[in-house]
Amino acid sequence: GKDALVIFTPSGKRGRFALGTPVLSAARALGVDLDSVCGGRGICSKCQISPGYGSFAKHGVTVDADALSDWNAVEERYKSKRGLIEGRRLGCQAKVQGDVVIDVPPESQLHKQVIRKRAEARQITLDPSVTLHYVEVAEPDMHDPSGDFERLTAALRDQWQIGQLRADLSVLTTLQPVLRKGGWKVTVALHRAEESDIPRIMHIWPGLYEGTVYGMAVDLGSTTIAGHLCDLRTGEVLASSGLMNPQIRFGEDLMSRVSYSMMNPTGAADMTTAVRAGMNALFTQVAAEAEIDIGLIMDAVFVCNPVMHHLLLGIDPFELGQAPFALATSGSLHLTAHDLELQMHPSARVYLLPCIAGHVGADAAAVALSEAPEKSEDLVLIVDVGTNAEILLGNREKVLACSSPTGPAFEGAQISSGQRAAPGAIERVEIDPATKEPRFKVIGSDLWSDEPGFDEAVASTGITGICGSGIIEMVAEMRIAGIVDGPGLIGSPAQTGTTRCFLDGRTHSYMVWDGSATGGPVITVTNRDIREIQMAKAALYSGARLLMDKFGVDHVDRIVLAGAFGAHISPKHAMVLGMIPDVPLDKVTSAGNAAGTGARIALLNRGARAEVEKTVAQIHKIETAIEPRFQEHFVNASNIPNAVEGFPHLFK
Ligand code: FES
Repeated sequence: GKDALVIFTPSGKRGRFALGTPVLSAARALGVDLDSVCGGRGICSKCQISPGYGSFAKHGVTVDADALSDWNAVEERYKSKRGLIEGRRLGCQAKVQGDVVIDVPPESQLHKQVIRKRAEARQITLDPSVTLHYVEVAEPDMHDPSGDFERLTAALRDQWQIGQLRADLSVLTTLQPVLRKGGWKVTVALHRAEESDIPRIMHIWPGLYEGTVYGMAVDLGSTTIAGHLCDLRTGEVLASSGLMNPQIRFGEDLMSRVSYSMMNPTGAADMTTAVRAGMNALFTQVAAEAEIDIGLIMDAVFVCNPVMHHLLLGIDPFELGQAPFALATSGSLHLTAHDLELQMHPSARVYLLPCIAGHVGADAAAVALSEAPEKSEDLVLIVDVGTNAEILLGNREKVLACSSPTGPAFEGAQISSGQRAAPGAIERVEIDPATKEPRFKVIGSDLWSDEPGFDEAVASTGITGICGSGIIEMVAEMRIAGIVDGPGLIGSPAQTGTTRCFLDGRTHSYMVWDGSATGGPVITVTNRDIREIQMAKAALYSGARLLMDKFGVDHVDRIVLAGAFGAHISPKHAMVLGMIPDVPLDKVTSAGNAAGTGARIALLNRGARAEVEKTVAQIHKIETAIEPRFQEHFVNASNIPNAVEGFPHLFK
């Protein structure tokens, strides 16, 4: 028989096919990514393609107007009823009649590229664990006594080449009415954690289901729980939302929660109940925001630190509170929504990323997935700043990880005028080195405090305190202006030449803002505040420095600040403080919520789950507590910026 050349763009894949071959079949034979839910019946329109006509010098072909078959009845019916964009054909109906160049538009690509906001970030290829398949099932017959499920299995084998099948009981209980309601035509949602898994039917709809299915990517932090609701057919984020972790009432930080579980017989169970309730509140909130049925959320990925990980699972975190910090399990987990009492689809699946070590959790694994240090040409230091800093250092050669107990100072806690980042909090600071006068910006206003209109701009919130990024800038600016010295002492009025410095007990404090005349707060920085920041930044720096020792280097090529807090830190001030090692300032970037992004990647791409499992297995874990040099680095790093290390990019 005669054949013709078929070239697909943008993939460039090409092959020769017998005349009369449907475009969808040619695409499948070549491994071209062309979507289909209805299995080529001309009813889902997911297989749309655009044939090109004329001369394609690049490909060495000329395409005639009749390179594809005329519209058949099925395609005509689809077009008249539902409409098709000009120039588009249904790939399952149009047949090859001559040499042809066929473009697969983005929305018809099965493994679409999901656009990420940051230009330098790698794109996500859509390959979710839940897929939809329309299928036509043989009716039961007295002469062929097989079950409805067996006939459905046979239909999926014939029409979708899916050999074996499992079904949850909840599907079996609805199977018969749904098959009959759909006139033996149904759409099934299949779950496969890996392509080689036996698929499991999670849901069955009568007829062609034209809706979509959803997944949740959740970053479960000790302070906040943040989630992204994603469309599993497009990869799009439909809604993002966050709420306070309800466990806060059992303790502000992780260690206080671990001790709560030690002190109270039902402590761990109470916290498990609280975090699961919080999770359900988040799911409800996000579903309401996107106006979708919560029951259509069929997959979820969670990332969290080890203590949160254990409490979510209902495992007492007791062992994580004492050396040698053994995890109950560090591997990734495939669970059901039912296991975790989550209100999603009743058969929904849940995936937890692996933990790296007893102090370095699945959240750090998610950061590694998002930032891919193991693929980096240059040596990258990734710092996720929170009450516990997770630090990764690596390149294509190897990746090291550790965590360092920075404490809550960077969240504004244990700072006399500290507060969480909220309207009214000071977030940007400049101090004039000559006059020692401060100017600042507060969250909720774009004006500096010495600009006209500032008072009106902050009238509704007032000036309430200093947030974490504000305190970093404040202390760094005080150091630059000579108000505080290297060892961390605030100078007297005589030493600094300003009465903003005043004796406050046995040490001096610096007056930032006196709102007492109008009933507002008096905002000062005390020498104790400086001390707290010194401890926090020294913990962070010495963790990073220790990893550099282990790597055998004394500088890094670039630094990525991860986490919501990292996004707000000024690189210059962090370096003046000696929080991060010296690099050119333009080599410090913010990755935003990299852990949340990692969760989203694992949700939308099954292969990424295997990838992160492999990466985590290869990461070298460093336990800071037992490293003798950690203490030495810590002492040196307590100075601002450092007692021994130089910062040539800051101080030439
Ligand atoms: Fe469904 Fe072509 S595959 S319309």
